[in-house]
Amino acid sequence: MSKEYDLVILGGGTGGYVAAIRASQLGLQVAIVEKAELGGTCLHRGCIPSKALLRSAEVYRQTLEAAEFGVETRDTTLNFTNVQDRKQRIVNTLHQGVQGLMKKGKIDIFEGFGRILGPSIFSPMPGTISVEYENGEENTMIVPKNVLIATGSRPKSLPGLEIDGVSVMSSDEALQMKELPQSILIIGGGVIGIEWASMLSDFGVKVTVLEYLDQILPTEDKDIAKEMERLLKKKGISIIKGANVLSDTLIKDSGVSIQAEINAEKRTFNAEKILLSVGRQANTENIGIENTDIVLKNGYIETNRNYQTKESHIYAIGDVIGGMQLAHVASHEGITAVEHMADQEPHALNDENVPTCIYSNPEAASVGLSEEAAKEKGYQVKTGKFPFKAIGKALVYGESDGFAKIVVDKNTDDILGIHMIGPHVTDMISEAGLAKVLDATPWEMTQSIHPHPTLSEVLGEAALAVEGKQIHG
Ligand code: NAI
Repeated sequence: MSKEYDLVILGGGTGGYVAAIRASQLGLQVAIVEKAELGGTCLHRGCIPSKALLRSAEVYRQTLEAAEFGVETRDTTLNFTNVQDRKQRIVNTLHQGVQGLMKKGKIDIFEGFGRILGPSIFSPMPGTISVEYENGEENTMIVPKNVLIATGSRPKSLPGLEIDGVSVMSSDEALQMKELPQSILIIGGGVIGIEWASMLSDFGVKVTVLEYLDQILPTEDKDIAKEMERLLKKKGISIIKGANVLSDTLIKDSGVSIQAEINAEKRTFNAEKILLSVGRQANTENIGIENTDIVLKNGYIETNRNYQTKESHIYAIGDVIGGMQLAHVASHEGITAVEHMADQEPHALNDENVPTCIYSNPEAASVGLSEEAAKEKGYQVKTGKFPFKAIGKALVYGESDGFAKIVVDKNTDDILGIHMIGPHVTDMISEAGLAKVLDATPWEMTQSIHPHPTLSEVLGEAALAVEGKQIHG
């Protein structure tokens, strides 16, 4: 027997479940096929659990440094079991929340693995979904009018340096660690590598980061990446750039040892464990792509601006289509795709208006073009920069490293990018995002009054600094 729906979504992660809620609001009959747990990578193996651990690391570090605030603490110890339990409680609460939202939206959930079938007795078009169950139960056939692929991504490994979950971990396994290692070698100094380096260092682990390129956080503005490197080194993290890791030199013994070529010289690195954070790859296998005309490009599903694949009734969003692999991008894409299939006219997403956040200590956040990317695109730029050390609230808060930087088109005065590093910048980047969406000029940013004393004053001052008119610097 087959079931019929207006929309079937493969994958109930942040992209998939948000799309389902929007579809339900628009009156569509929706089902999600999910092989594991609703909430996907972000909720169970990504954003939420990693931020919960980062917060525990922050509290631990701040407690150790509490004397600076006149607060005497004695015998501060870390109970990592309780740290992990707290993380899990937060995940469980949010998981229940998502399940509740599905019920409220009358969204059906099929707990199995979804595969797209070609033309069949159920439908002359590809897109019938066969749901396969681990317990061997008979497959369910679902015949949808539209399909949305939101199957996400998984950590990449390197040839010869396979993830075994014990000595060589990805962030998936690292999130489940029962005990902290004494030392760790982090391969890849991108967003995951830097967040974990900061967190583990704050927990007291000896951290070494090996980055292949000559800049950590290679897509960030150079000034931000440099400041991040300086501040992480100040914490005692060893950061080695231009490191070509020689995967075939891996030795697993009581710990791990691996060689890397740096400036044509081979160096050996030893640690208790390796964390591999060299990017993620799309989950496109076994979902029946071969039964359709869907095109893959560099391993990602190709779509148009409305997220339609080459099969116009099959849409794809989130990490599986590549681009900015971020939860908030996936959910926005999901909403756009669903609105398009419901004959609305959604706005196409502009990558240059999407904020990115790094939740290390210090935090970093940005929206739009870096100074280097703007110049590469042919813009003549002017910039304004203002440090947190001249912001009263940052001193009060006890974290005055970092700055805000605004990159502006010299000819039109349009803001091209805003980049921040320092306390709570991930919560403050939304103002910059709104400025980008509204095509604001720095002067317009200064006309939105920044209350005193707040950390947000750093943005008002950086906007003034574009014309050299900053007040406190
Ligand atoms: P990434 O693409 O951000 O960084 C990978 C890093 O590894 C790059 O710096 C790259 O140059 C380096 N690399 C690649 N091959 C290497 C090698 N053989 N040896 C040494 N270094 C090598 O990927 P990452 O950090 O794994 O994150 C995956 C995705 O998840 C990203 O798209 C990221 O934006 C997203 N994410 C976002 C978060 C956030 O928004 N806060 C948090 C965590 C992940």
